[in-house]
Amino acid sequence: TTPLRLGIAGLGTVGVGVVRIIRQQAALIEARTGRKIIISAVSARSKDKDRGVPLGDYAWEDDPVALATRDDVDVFVELMGGDAGPAKDATQAAIKAGKDVVTANKAMLALHGQELALAAEAAGCVIRYEAAVAGGIPVMKTLTEGLAGNEISRVMGVMNGTCNYILTQMQATRQGYNALFAEADKLGYLEADPNLDVGGIDAGHKLALLASVAFGTQVNFDAIELEGIQNITLEDIDAAADMDFRIKLLGVAQMTGRGLEQRMSPCLVPSNSSLGQLEGGTNMVVIEGDAVGQIVLRGAGAGEGPTASAVLSDIIDIARGLRLPTFGQPANTLRKARPAKAAIP
Ligand code: NAP
Ligand code: HSE
Repeated sequence: TTPLRLGIAGLGTVGVGVVRIIRQQAALIEARTGRKIIISAVSARSKDKDRGVPLGDYAWEDDPVALATRDDVDVFVELMGGDAGPAKDATQAAIKAGKDVVTANKAMLALHGQELALAAEAAGCVIRYEAAVAGGIPVMKTLTEGLAGNEISRVMGVMNGTCNYILTQMQATRQGYNALFAEADKLGYLEADPNLDVGGIDAGHKLALLASVAFGTQVNFDAIELEGIQNITLEDIDAAADMDFRIKLLGVAQMTGRGLEQRMSPCLVPSNSSLGQLEGGTNMVVIEGDAVGQIVLRGAGAGEGPTASAVLSDIIDIARGLRLPTFGQPANTLRKARPAKAAIP
């Protein structure tokens, strides 16, 4: 069988993690897919940076669009980030050139997912993005495959590792959230613009993607009622603790008679509940389906290994020939949901 050839754009936390797994687990991946997965070419902003993994075997492209359209690339792996600019340009170029796309970029998909999904379907390509939502937790596969026979009524959870880390560390170490940025950065949790994390926007992007797949609706990030954690103080954390609660940035999407509710905001949860006990960069996603009941998924929501693990799962699906539509059903069958204000603000 022919090898599956990758072009990887972005060699930061996630990109390096993907290169590392492909190098370290080549035999295991070949045994599981029946194919070799090889890296043809890579791209980042700086060619000379030491990234802690050997890159000399791979061709280098300064321009991600050139990388995405190379003849020796079957799958374009977009790990640069940014909702538009080079990430979107190169993704569109890859699709136009007939390449499949794997990305961790929730911002790009939450804002342009419908357009990209339509383009991919017209070109006969697939877009996969397991890593975009809840890091290492296989939540997109759970929804699109494991729960495909269910009508989903609600998805909810904690979906930003940075915010969960900051909120739990504020309580544990008594530092304000500004001081905790540096530690979250060291752990590889932060977005290039950390305002996306603490503003709840990154978690909102993830909720928008989950809602689309769960309810068969077009992604609508603008309809999310959004509030971040910037205004949470140590006094708020203490007041919550006095009542035996913890503060979590919690997202909820549910279909109601009034339309689709989507909200992402700091909430009080009981300290001894599973949500209350969620520490560090951990995420938790709860899905409710008519046949299955409630499913709870918990695991590392950010960082090199967990996120690269999710990227690899998409690459392996493509190597195995699995060609699911982007949002679990053809993009032209996704409904435009009427946005509804949350009943409980
Ligand atoms: P990162 O550490 O900031 O790395 C970004 C990489 O993209 C860097 O290697 C950078 O090059 C490269 N890059 C940026 N702009 C470029 C351009 N114009 N041309 C070529 N290369 C460019 O980011 P990350 O944390 O790996 O995140 C990557 C993506 O994964 C983002 O979409 C993020 O939202 C998503 N994600 C991250 C995590 C996580 O835990 N970190 C989890 C889930 C999803 P240089 O290194 O040369 O500057
Ligand atoms: N910045 C994101 C987080 C990375 O903290 O959860 C994972 O999507």
